[in-house]
Amino acid sequence: MEVNLTLNGEDTTLTVDQSDTLLDALRNAGYTGAKRGCGTGDCGFCTVVVDGASVKSCLQPVARVEGATVETIESLGTQDELHPVQAAFVDNAALQCGFCIPGMIMRVTQFLESNPDPNEEEIREALSGNICRCTGYEKIIDAVQDAASRLSNERAMVSDGGRPVPSGQSCVDCSTCSGGERE
Ligand code: FES
Ligand code: FES
Repeated sequence: MEVNLTLNGEDTTLTVDQSDTLLDALRNAGYTGAKRGCGTGDCGFCTVVVDGASVKSCLQPVARVEGATVETIESLGTQDELHPVQAAFVDNAALQCGFCIPGMIMRVTQFLESNPDPNEEEIREALSGNICRCTGYEKIIDAVQDAASRLSNERAMVSDGGRPVPSGQSCVDCSTCSGGERE
């Protein structure tokens, strides 16, 4: 069977087995950023965003995403220019093996869309369905707080029309410009 969806901003048709989960379908189509951990909805390694909500794709029958908008980790950043959430995880040493990280990043990105300025308790609650066995959660909490700050700075700069950096101050590395080229 075929499933039509918007995948990472592109109109896409996936050829799938009726019994496939969304995780199966994505990985068979080459979107291998979402990982299979438990396969039972407990670890969060397979988290993607469907119509603005974070979803454990190992539990989602692929037929249910007909017509949906699906975003995977492949939609964020590039090798040369990380998404602010990715950059915050790197800069706060909040990752080691990286098996959990794609799902964690997708959950955090979606969470910060709905709650741009979360407190620590809200962050812990938001990540309660995403397990990391390597890093420890303190660094992850630090990374999420840092990511919230970076995204807030980005939004402020965009709404400010990219106001020039005052003389004597450094341009913040917010990815909204080419870096230090503005006057
Ligand atoms: S693989 Fe989906 S929640 Fe663990
Ligand atoms: S870095 Fe998360 S499980 Fe290893």
